[in-house]
Amino acid sequence: MADRVLRLGVIGLSRGFDLTRPTLAADARVQLVAAADPRDEARAAFQAEFGAPAFETASELLADPRVEAVYIAAPHQAHVALAIQATRAGKHILVEKPMALALADCRRMTEAAKAAGVQLLVGPSHGFDPPVAWAADFIASGAFGRPRMVTATTFTDFLYRPRRREELDTAQGGGVVFSQAAHQVDVVRRLVGSPVRSVRAVTGAWDPSRPTEGAYQALLTFEGGASSVLTYSGYGRYDTDALMGWVGETGGAKDPEAYAVARGRLETTSEDELKAARAYGAGAAPPAPPIGHEHFGFVLVACESGDLRLTATGVEVHGPQVRRTVHLPMGAATRRGVIDELCGAIVEGRPPIHDGAWGTENLAVCLAILRSAAEGREVAITEIEDNR
Ligand SMILES: NC(=O)c1ccc[n+]([C@@H]2O[C@H](COP(=O)([O-])OP(=O)(O)OC[C@H]3O[C@@H](n4cnc5c(N)ncnc54)[C@H](O)[C@@H]3O)[C@@H](O)[C@H]2O)c1
Repeated sequence: MADRVLRLGVIGLSRGFDLTRPTLAADARVQLVAAADPRDEARAAFQAEFGAPAFETASELLADPRVEAVYIAAPHQAHVALAIQATRAGKHILVEKPMALALADCRRMTEAAKAAGVQLLVGPSHGFDPPVAWAADFIASGAFGRPRMVTATTFTDFLYRPRRREELDTAQGGGVVFSQAAHQVDVVRRLVGSPVRSVRAVTGAWDPSRPTEGAYQALLTFEGGASSVLTYSGYGRYDTDALMGWVGETGGAKDPEAYAVARGRLETTSEDELKAARAYGAGAAPPAPPIGHEHFGFVLVACESGDLRLTATGVEVHGPQVRRTVHLPMGAATRRGVIDELCGAIVEGRPPIHDGAWGTENLAVCLAILRSAAEGREVAITEIEDNR
């Protein structure tokens, strides 16, 4: 049993919360003491599952003195207002990715947290995955010299999972750059360990019925000379889980025979109905139990004297003479690294990696991908003051 239990309130009983829920429920270092969501069925499910109050509004949750910290898992556009409100109530914050949709908002959130003396962390995201954390530490040790090139490739069905209207509108934070590059950028920044200097990118919006970015390719250059090529497609054809032993993004087994399932469902059932059926409290079947670590597809790092390939169970280490496989233990819950950083920051006073400044730079890179694609040129991160 943990010495000190962090009392956490959830704002937004979303899909994001649902994926983090098993970790929060299993970890003795945190206790879910309240939630807020305008949906009746989500509140009823939370009360039944956790025996704790669920409010209709964030204001009511923030007024509850038992809540020490909030996990903001509401849609992207709501993050900034909810985070500022939370700082005014003196609550620590874990906010979902992307931190916000504009750099000015990220800065306001970070400054408000600092002024209120509360911690602000951004997550969960795939930069917390154990193979990423292990490889980042190994690279930072210098055992293989400096990191030089990171290749990260992810093909999913993201664009055809059931969506709210705004999730298909880039101006409102929709599309794969805001939702998915947020993960890929987090992963490669953790691995390289130095700031991004510039971005040259192209984006693809190939389906007029879903008129937002469904794909991108980006070349990132880093201070110190490393580079990274990011490729993402959410068009639901090839699936990079094939390269990860058919372990899915959240660690569960994936059926290799299932093909075009998400697109097929959209053709036969209304999107609102599908979205509602997947929501927390709607009684959907739980996801497949984890058989591997969470991951974000194919990741290969070339250092000066060796290469690292991340897998769903660990890291392949390709040295100058010897190749070995490092198996990383699974643990009870897949997102434990998020609780490590959250409790480390709030309970032990350990500075988190995924703090406000980190989340702000992740967003700056995402905005640079959009700007580079729109303007057809390389964009320096220093040029990204705001996205509108
Ligand atoms: N880290 C991950 O693996 C992961 C996965 C999915 C989503 N997310 C993130 O989670 C966040 C939520 O997205 P989603 O797709 O899961 O949302 P969603 O559409 O599944 O659910 C949104 C929920 O928030 C509630 N809500 C809306 N406004 C609110 C407010 N002001 N206060 C309280 N509740 C409010 C809605 O009623 C709904 O229950 C986003 O930031 C998204 O990027 C993260």
